[in-house]
Amino acid sequence: MSSVEYSSKNDVAVITLINPPVNAISQGIRAGLIEALDRLAADSTVQSAVLIGAGDTFVAGADIKEFGKPLAPPTTLEALAAMEASSKPIVAALAGNALGGGLEIALACHWRVAVPKVKLGLPEITLGIMPGAGGTQRLPRLVGGAKALDMILSGAPVDGSKGLQLGIVDELVEGDPLEGAIAFARRIVAEKRPLRVTSQLQDKVGNTDPAIFAEARSKNEKKWKGLLSPYKIVEAVEAACTLPFAEGAALELKLYRETQASPQRAALTYMFFAEREASKIPDVPRDLKPAPVKSASVIGAGTMGGGIAMSFANVGVPVKLLEASQDALDKGLARIQGNYATSVARGSISQAQMDQRLALITPTTEYAQIGDADIVVEAVFENMEVKQGVFRTLDGVMKPGAILGTNTSTLDIDQIANVTKRPQEVIGMHFFSPANVMKLVENVRGGKTSPEIIGRTMAVSRQIGKVPVLARNCDGFIGNRVLAVYGRECDFMLEEGATPWQIDRALQGFGFPMGLFLMRDMAGLDVGWRIRAYREQFRDKTLRYSPIGDRICELGRFGQKTGAGYYKYIGRDATPDPEIEALIIKTAADLGIKRREVSDEEIVWRVLSVMANEGAKIVGEGIAIRASDVDVTYVFGYGFPRHQGGPMFWAEQQGLDKVYAKVAGYHAEQGLFWEPAPLLVKAAKSGAKSWKDAAVE
Ligand code: CAA
Repeated sequence: MSSVEYSSKNDVAVITLINPPVNAISQGIRAGLIEALDRLAADSTVQSAVLIGAGDTFVAGADIKEFGKPLAPPTTLEALAAMEASSKPIVAALAGNALGGGLEIALACHWRVAVPKVKLGLPEITLGIMPGAGGTQRLPRLVGGAKALDMILSGAPVDGSKGLQLGIVDELVEGDPLEGAIAFARRIVAEKRPLRVTSQLQDKVGNTDPAIFAEARSKNEKKWKGLLSPYKIVEAVEAACTLPFAEGAALELKLYRETQASPQRAALTYMFFAEREASKIPDVPRDLKPAPVKSASVIGAGTMGGGIAMSFANVGVPVKLLEASQDALDKGLARIQGNYATSVARGSISQAQMDQRLALITPTTEYAQIGDADIVVEAVFENMEVKQGVFRTLDGVMKPGAILGTNTSTLDIDQIANVTKRPQEVIGMHFFSPANVMKLVENVRGGKTSPEIIGRTMAVSRQIGKVPVLARNCDGFIGNRVLAVYGRECDFMLEEGATPWQIDRALQGFGFPMGLFLMRDMAGLDVGWRIRAYREQFRDKTLRYSPIGDRICELGRFGQKTGAGYYKYIGRDATPDPEIEALIIKTAADLGIKRREVSDEEIVWRVLSVMANEGAKIVGEGIAIRASDVDVTYVFGYGFPRHQGGPMFWAEQQGLDKVYAKVAGYHAEQGLFWEPAPLLVKAAKSGAKSWKDAAVE
């Protein structure tokens, strides 16, 4: 079947773009569109045309799989120029998604009608690129420079009503978009309205305040640090407001090509597919399409439990929140109310939305009240006996087939599951704090968790707006296992000559929003200290261990909350502390380590390569299904800069052989404990370019 179908409804031609599932702009779409426009010109039976996408959706943009590869002609720009040159009016019928190149096609039509639920957006920035088919030039001509700039920089879609208000959409249709667009096209012809060619509109760009561009650059300096495409977008929209269309479009194309050629684009498009790949589980049938959950229960109204309950309420799922005592329940609810009130004050939700969400959360102290939920997530104190007690009770009250989730970051899922008579229905759901904000959910399958429960848990995670990853049961799962080596390597570098502030600066330079030591100080140092004290009895004393963190805690310095940790604090403002530098120097001397200069480059390399090495162990042991799952975990749960693609992607970009050689070199030189992952060794020896190749060779 051709990618573009031409048909007619009496006097109106209907041009349908077909490329399931999302009608991405393939070569077939581009060439087919030009052919259809030729037919339209020659067809004397029609006076206008409607352009529509097949399968209830318009077009979700360029085919992202083609990025970085040469494109077969014709270009989208050629197809759009042919559309604007048509002497017969073309009306876009918009439903589903009109995103990226899809919206750019619609913008080049003479008019646009849309259903209210349509998603209209230019999300290119999220892929490290910018609109390259006239979007930065035509959108400002319809909505004005300021609103266009906001929309392209946010990358977020708007719905039909907002599109109408902005001026993207000319009319909303409540029923069938095709029928609505045909009626609209007939009206245009009957009224003999002159063709409205977007590229020729001048009013709104002419009225744009020229100061907005410099403002956007200075206001976002921190947020855009290290990023390329936001700056190119500002430049292109500025050109739309100051130059004739042809010159602005030529500049857009040049800037677009620069973004396409950048390593950031490669990393961000990799992340787009990695995020979707993470939901594909080999033993879960692809055709398992679980129904959305209709009700949930959460056990524990502490910070985590409250955040998890909010995540359900935020997407309209009624949730019962259970606590052991009324007092704890009241405190938990007050915290939830406070969080929502902050969102209202910031303008991110309305008072009505806050009220709706709160009304969906039913507090209770009775287990008998919660049993009918489709899913229960336990988020009580991180202690095996306590959690086992909760699961014994849940086994007695929850309806058969409910997902029994445990929000643990460290405990053995099987030991929890095995106290129930239905371990196949028990699964780990490791949320990240604050749970209502953080995107990652690390789902952990126990030895007996059924594939159906896994599939349903991945689906419900997406339903509540999270990015799920599946791990197998082990100490630390994926995320905290990698975090442990990342932290250990930073501690060793302190002993060898670095300072906390140097390490933090180097990591922030790479793109982490916060360095490791600032992060530790913010989270509080005492919990980790207590865990280490407990684990001391099991620690392998032959391996290198850095006592710096313990010595800092022994001084009562538990981080930001006590005004001192690795840094000194005034409020939240951190300053380097000579006392800590002295403590580090003394510790190194006690351990017989001769301090030397550690370069920023070494800091970044050592941190990232030990992360990748641990990731390779995790993949090799089958804890993660694939290397990209480690990256998804790090980007969505641990602040790894998305435009760098995650530690596993980073290692592939450097060359796996180079990563192996360099890290082995650091460690050999320093006589340090270093255990290369078998998968990394295999990759280095076989010359594999990717983790995938290394795994199969
Ligand atoms: N290119 C290639 N594949 C795409 C795609 C695209 N633009 N958009 C979606 N897909 C694929 C997904 O990878 C997925 O494939 P698998 O089933 O094999 O995993 C499938 O289509 C369905 O996608 P989702 O699972 O994401 O489905 P959804 O219903 O949850 O979301 C969507 C649909 C909102 C369109 C979402 O897929 C999306 O946001 N896509 C990207 C949109 C985008 O960024 N467009 C701009 C592209 S850049 C551009 O257009 C620039 C230009 O022309 C110059």
